[in-house]
Amino acid sequence: MSEYTHVPVLAEETVSLLITAKRGTYVDATLGMGGHTARLLNALPAEASVLGIDWDPEMAGVAARALAPFGDRVKIVQGNFANIDEITAREGIRSVAGALFDLGISSLHFDKASRGFSIMNDGPLDMRINPDNPLTAYTIINQWPYEQIEHLIRICGERHSRRITRAILDARREHALETTAELGALIARVAPARGEKTHPATKTFLALRVAVNYEFDNLTRGIQKMMPLLKPGARMGIITFHSLEDRIVKETFRLMASMGGWKPVTRKPVKPAEAEIIENKRARSAKLRVIEKL
Ligand SMILES: C[S@@+](CC[C@H](N)C(=O)[O-])C[C@H]1O[C@@H](n2cnc3c(N)ncnc32)[C@H](O)[C@@H]1O
Repeated sequence: MSEYTHVPVLAEETVSLLITAKRGTYVDATLGMGGHTARLLNALPAEASVLGIDWDPEMAGVAARALAPFGDRVKIVQGNFANIDEITAREGIRSVAGALFDLGISSLHFDKASRGFSIMNDGPLDMRINPDNPLTAYTIINQWPYEQIEHLIRICGERHSRRITRAILDARREHALETTAELGALIARVAPARGEKTHPATKTFLALRVAVNYEFDNLTRGIQKMMPLLKPGARMGIITFHSLEDRIVKETFRLMASMGGWKPVTRKPVKPAEAEIIENKRARSAKLRVIEKL
């Protein structure tokens, strides 16, 4: 068994809202540890299969072990969902029975200090989902100019963006900032929490992760490329964890519905019940939106 676990968020709601056909290939665009895929496969008859994609080669390996009992009902591919058109073409898949995006990163990414995502588990300033990518959080923090860092963290909702950026530039003049704990402590010194429950560096860390992994660009491209692949009657479900990505999904779905050919399934986003939030803190900010191809 893996030393890491990841509890799938809104699992029941996702399965019941996504499945409209009993056969065909479903796409899990963010496979992670395979929690949603396992639930989908358990809910579907043997004729249906899942193509699971994860950008992180380590995660694709973890999922392959976890999903081995499903045999050839699941095919796992390491890749960026922004290239879903190329991935499905390579796999000989022409149409898709339903698609899920469960955005962001997995608990494994937070728990494993060496990946550099966590303020609490000290690690290198990395934050790459795919370690082959050239850009790291280290490069942003130690090389980007003031304007770019300040803009990045401001648009991700950090109201102390100027104070934080100034502190980063002052600190890096002395020596390069190397670790997540170092950056977290620096931010906590200049922008201390005032009664908020989250660490004062939370928004800066989110901004760095989003930039390192081109998350908004991937999301927009992933949705666009998935649209022609879905069969009529098939649904696309997207789980978001912060307001910026939820806004992208909400506005893109609204645009799709206004173009015609798409019908929103969830008028309001589906949120986890209190019981799920108590069991899985990560679920507290989750929102699921689903749209159907007509
Ligand atoms: C929240 S986790 C998914 C968890 C999964 N649903 C489960 O039940 O285990 C998000 C996953 O998406 C992957 N990911 C993030 N961006 C991606 C992208 N652009 N393409 C493919 N996978 C991506 C991450 O590596 C991570 O494993």
